[in-house]
Amino acid sequence: MISVRHLSKTYHNPDGSSLQVLKDVNCEIGKGEIISIIGPSGTGKSTFLRALNLLDRPTSGEIIIDGENILRKGYPAHLLRQKMGMVFQSFNLFPHMTVLENISLAPVKLLGMSKADADAQSLELLRTVGLAGKADVYPDSLSGGQKQRVAIARCLAMRPEVILFDEPTSALDPSMTGEVLSVIRQLAQQGMTMLIVTHEMKFARDVSTRIFFMNEGVIWEDGSPEQIFLHPQRSATKAFVQQINKLVFDIAGAEDFDFYGMYSQMKAFCVKYDVAAKADAVVQIAEKMCRDVLEGHYPLTVRLSHAGINDETTLDFMLEGYSSSPLAGVPSGSAALAAVKGLSREIVEELTTRGFRIKIIV
Ligand SMILES: Nc1ncnc2c1ncn2[C@@H]1O[C@H](COP(=O)(O)OP(=O)(O)O)[C@@H](O)[C@H]1O
Ligand SMILES: [Mg+2]
Repeated sequence: MISVRHLSKTYHNPDGSSLQVLKDVNCEIGKGEIISIIGPSGTGKSTFLRALNLLDRPTSGEIIIDGENILRKGYPAHLLRQKMGMVFQSFNLFPHMTVLENISLAPVKLLGMSKADADAQSLELLRTVGLAGKADVYPDSLSGGQKQRVAIARCLAMRPEVILFDEPTSALDPSMTGEVLSVIRQLAQQGMTMLIVTHEMKFARDVSTRIFFMNEGVIWEDGSPEQIFLHPQRSATKAFVQQINKLVFDIAGAEDFDFYGMYSQMKAFCVKYDVAAKADAVVQIAEKMCRDVLEGHYPLTVRLSHAGINDETTLDFMLEGYSSSPLAGVPSGSAALAAVKGLSREIVEELTTRGFRIKIIV
């Protein structure tokens, strides 16, 4: 359906310097494929999507869609707009138009649909994205997640064969990413061809038929979700997909340590890495462990980490120099320890080279 051959893009800056953002991108994309594009920022993911949609002119190469090179001189861009839609991080809705008007605009203007037909279609699309009651409101009165669902409905109104998503959930409050990802999942089930630039690794793994790992302006590795996430061939891919985000605190003693500061940083970490729902449990476990269970055991290192790939959030409590579990000395009836157990998925106690570690999976 889409063939990309030797695509490259160089930006020339006003100061005379230039930057080659896409180096030699090659791929074949079949109908019905759902491809997640992952990779570090600045590696050309957005530039690639914009090139596919003719929003940005590549420097060289070919993009063949249904047998036609869309980069050839004189190719009618409006034909492409009917085949391919794009959803942006920042919604791009018209603020002075109602939700319904936003969705009906393009089909009337570009497809020549009657206003009545377009409105009927818009209402149907609003139902599919779960916003049937919002037809007559203005975008400003909607939450970010609702705006993005309207943007998806607007894109669907053009009846595209392919949809490009550029980080559709990055601008959203973590509590709203789920509703947008659900709508994309639903489109996937209906067989829509999609390219999705995303940082949501778990979503990418679940929903995609294929993953492109982009790095340094090329598709560095291309494979099934299983290949890319579980058996990456190249070291840069491996480093990217296995990255773990960490927050570490060294507590020398109870007097000079700002425990409340630590709890609020932990909470912010959970929000940042999209596990806001676990924030309360994380803070309660940290509190009960530091204040009650491990009280008096210093120096204590506390580490909070999150691995996007399996969505696992872990709290580690490290006691240097210990050769046995500090939990052994905790009275069996300890309410704090019982509470910690109740809040955690798994507790692993292990001897390490530095001391004893209690690993709590939240
Ligand atoms: N219009 C532009 N002019 C100059 N440089 C740009 C322009 N757009 C993007 N870039 C640069 O190109 C690089 C890749 O950008 P982008 O495609 O947005 O990466 P990604 O989406 O992977 O984060 C970045 O270094 C960015 O600063
Ligand atoms: Mg980008």
